[in-house]
Amino acid sequence: MKDLLATVKSNKRIAENIYMITLTLPESVGAMHGGQFVNLSTGNGANLLRRPLGVCIADGNDLSVCYQVKGNGTKYLSTVESGRKLQVLLPLGNWFDLDGYKNVAVIGGGVGIFPLIATIRENCSEKNFYSYIGFRNAGAVCLEEELKKSKKLTITTDDGSYGIKGNAVSAYLDDFESVAADVIIACGPPVMLKVLKRKLSEAGIKIPCYVSLEERMGCGLGACLVCVCKNSDGENVRVCRDGPVFDINEVQL
Ligand SMILES: Cc1cc2nc3c(=O)[nH]c(=O)nc-3n(C[C@H](O)[C@H](O)[C@H](O)COP(=O)(O)OP(=O)(O)OC[C@H]3O[C@@H](n4cnc5c(N)ncnc54)[C@H](O)[C@@H]3O)c2cc1C
Ligand code: FES
Repeated sequence: MKDLLATVKSNKRIAENIYMITLTLPESVGAMHGGQFVNLSTGNGANLLRRPLGVCIADGNDLSVCYQVKGNGTKYLSTVESGRKLQVLLPLGNWFDLDGYKNVAVIGGGVGIFPLIATIRENCSEKNFYSYIGFRNAGAVCLEEELKKSKKLTITTDDGSYGIKGNAVSAYLDDFESVAADVIIACGPPVMLKVLKRKLSEAGIKIPCYVSLEERMGCGLGACLVCVCKNSDGENVRVCRDGPVFDINEVQL
């Protein structure tokens, strides 16, 4: 893990309220995997805490992360221009480890798609991805070319303005028999992960399933306990240090 002063190469809007920022790192940090995240300064002294964002596209010393404008930090970040220097701590956390798996079902929603895209990019030459990706509406759809690296891609929208009307979890369960995945990876809003866990259990589906959690964070390093959630034994786990990727059965959602 390194704390580097990166140069903003570009920072552009890619969908409604969603931006992609590409940083040029001054040195290599080695391989970065889907699920891992960076802690990025917003460039504004008023936002003391850095913001955690999932690794999306790593290409040599260039790293792209995508963010939804939510509050003050990401709002300011969206105004940052090329050439600015931003402090970034990376790479952090664990990742979706697909060793031993061949057919991967991918379930994503909203900003949860970015770590999934990194995982697909990294593994698509050796593994088959069957991706079920949910967006709010047509305006929120982004990075479809990246998602198309999947063997099969199904896009859903809440209002049916693009792809299939519905949600990603139901779309996957509808295809469950034909896809025959040997692992499921998922990232998205807490409600989506909760529904996924309940539906897998109700359907008696025992395929291993790994989820990446996007808890609110402070330090990103395991020290402040802002990101704590409970494992299945009721013990505290730190999403930044013990995750953000967990076995869906080993974490309370
Ligand atoms: C491991 C990890 C990876 C992430 N990857 C991405 C990503 O690739 N793209 C992306 O857009 N976002 C991602 N997030 C969420 C992102 O970090 C927050 O949306 C961001 O920090 C909000 O900053 P802000 O200053 O705009 O909002 P703030 O002003 O800090 O908060 C605004 C609102 O957003 C809520 N919020 C703050 N942090 C989070 C959070 N972590 N999750 C959900 N709601 C939050 C607050 O409760 C508040 O309601 C990730 C979070 C984690 C922990
Ligand atoms: S963010 Fe500080 S312990 Fe996880």
